[in-house]
Amino acid sequence: MRISLEEAAERLKRGEVVAIPTETVYGLAADANNDRALKQIFTTKQRPADHPLIVHIADISQVNDWVTSFPETAVKLAQAFWPGALTLVLPAKNHVSRIVRGNEPTIALRVPNHPIALALLKLSGLSVAAPSANLFTQLSPTTASHVEAGLGDTIPVLDGGACAIGIESTIVSVAENGDWQLLRPGMISEAEITQVAGLAPQHKNSTVSITSEVLTPKAPGQHALHYSPRTPLLLFKDKAALMLAYKVLTQANLKCAALLIGEGEAPACTVLRLSNQPAEVAEQLYDSLHRLDALKTDRLLLELPPATPAWAAVLDRLSRAGGGEIQ
Ligand code: TXA
Ligand code: MG
Repeated sequence: MRISLEEAAERLKRGEVVAIPTETVYGLAADANNDRALKQIFTTKQRPADHPLIVHIADISQVNDWVTSFPETAVKLAQAFWPGALTLVLPAKNHVSRIVRGNEPTIALRVPNHPIALALLKLSGLSVAAPSANLFTQLSPTTASHVEAGLGDTIPVLDGGACAIGIESTIVSVAENGDWQLLRPGMISEAEITQVAGLAPQHKNSTVSITSEVLTPKAPGQHALHYSPRTPLLLFKDKAALMLAYKVLTQANLKCAALLIGEGEAPACTVLRLSNQPAEVAEQLYDSLHRLDALKTDRLLLELPPATPAWAAVLDRLSRAGGGEIQ
């Protein structure tokens, strides 16, 4: 069910959930200060309660409503990348709902860079918690139709077109002393974060004392099997490995479809070929996987991009979709 901006704002104010566009992926939104509405996000997504949500705010001035400390490093990151595909994890104020932060002492915040998402935040006057609008572990949606295909058409969707970035935001946690850590790679690269925030403590000379908290990556919900199509899939380091597997699988009468990156040889099955530009591949990645999944073949064969920093986020999502094993 598609709804207008005004209706989306009204529904959020009434404590209902609504799917909304952002520049990264569609989110399943609810009032971040309404526990009953927040619980509905978890029920709709079938998401475990210990997987915290990202709170979307209208601008940087709202950060202090949520956190006990907004360290200089985090301020610099927010100024450099907001509105945009960066989520900051900061020490939460006591009053912040335990449901939205999955019982963590921290809260994840982001100012989205999508005109409709920003208009909705302003019109409703709310801060909006929104995980990706898909069932737990399944593919993230980058169009209104993906949301409807995944969650059913009873979910109200505010249609904002296809997402321009196409994969989830970069998540960075910043401790009170300014030490930062990359929790989830995204299209804002680790190098861009480093340029603004300085080196992360694990890369500095270790005369500085590092707490065990800083050393342990803490991103609940980042487990291996995530962002997955329903069709079993296989990951390949290059086209040669993929072609070899394709031959074996076809001989065993298994129907395949493939996702390739860049030019080169292709198997004689349905093939989606993406360019060799990381930003273009990110934008089309989930849509391609949704389309390949809809073919209901026996296997999806996915070629991985090279393991270079520019591809880190795409590689992360593809590896998780495939459960991590590479042929
Ligand atoms: O681009 C995005 O970030 C999208 C759009 C809708 O904004 N949202 C998104 O939400 O990807 P979700 O729920 O699919 O992923 C949120 C992730 C969690 O799985 C968790 O790893 C991390 O954010 N997270 C949230 N709160 C956290 C916290 N307090 N500490 C550590 N990690 C946190
Ligand atoms: Mg998600």
